[in-house]
Amino acid sequence: MTQIDEIARGIHRISTWSPQAGITYNQFLIDDELPTLIHTGTFGQYDGVRDAIRRVLDPARLAHIVLLHWEGDENGGMERFLAQAPQARLVGSELSITLNARAFGLGDRAAGVRDGEALDLGRHRLRFLETPHVHHWDSMMVFEEESRSLFPSDLYLQPGEQPPVTTENLSSEMLAAYRSAGIFAHEQPVRDVLPRLEQLRPDWIHAMHGATIAGDALAPYTEALRKHEFAYRGTLLGRAVSETAHAAVQSD
Ligand SMILES: [Fe+2]
Ligand SMILES: [Fe+2]
Repeated sequence: MTQIDEIARGIHRISTWSPQAGITYNQFLIDDELPTLIHTGTFGQYDGVRDAIRRVLDPARLAHIVLLHWEGDENGGMERFLAQAPQARLVGSELSITLNARAFGLGDRAAGVRDGEALDLGRHRLRFLETPHVHHWDSMMVFEEESRSLFPSDLYLQPGEQPPVTTENLSSEMLAAYRSAGIFAHEQPVRDVLPRLEQLRPDWIHAMHGATIAGDALAPYTEALRKHEFAYRGTLLGRAVSETAHAAVQSD
């Protein structure tokens, strides 16, 4: 069951709970002159996400489909959304578009962006941050200036079926989920980007999994990322990889 909730003016959180994965998959619709979808969800989540968008606007009007890194739960639905929104452009980091979109044959409809570039949607304005190796090589984040919304993708996620907005400190659960999934190769690229995120002073942190975190509640999450280990230590999606494989990674 996919739900949609308006969090800030014109910013809608679309969320699907997966009991199997133990997380929600969230996408964000920005209702503006140039309607924009941030994350598409997986290929299989397309119908639910599209129907949720329909409660706010016609999905054929989408002008931008923004992906924050190339991965199934992030942009697995992009071809289906591009097919039903003839004017839509795919927007990703320049690296993501060069490495992936062009090589997958989607270059004609894709635009790569660099750190500091902006995109006006009407009332809302997106500012792009390149955040390489925060999870993936091609990762970026988006800051929406009018609502002071940060879209950090998989950073600041919380496991469990969370409400649209939280003020709770779920940082221990966040770190445990990272250690179990093994989605960060190393702590350092994350820690390098934290001061930039703090300087933005976001009012809303729209995590891709879990709740949107209210700005005042963010500090303990950031502190936890600074103080504790959360990078890959031999576990992938809860499964211990073989001793040999883990030793090979450690000695690199
Ligand atoms: Fe991801
Ligand atoms: Fe994700």
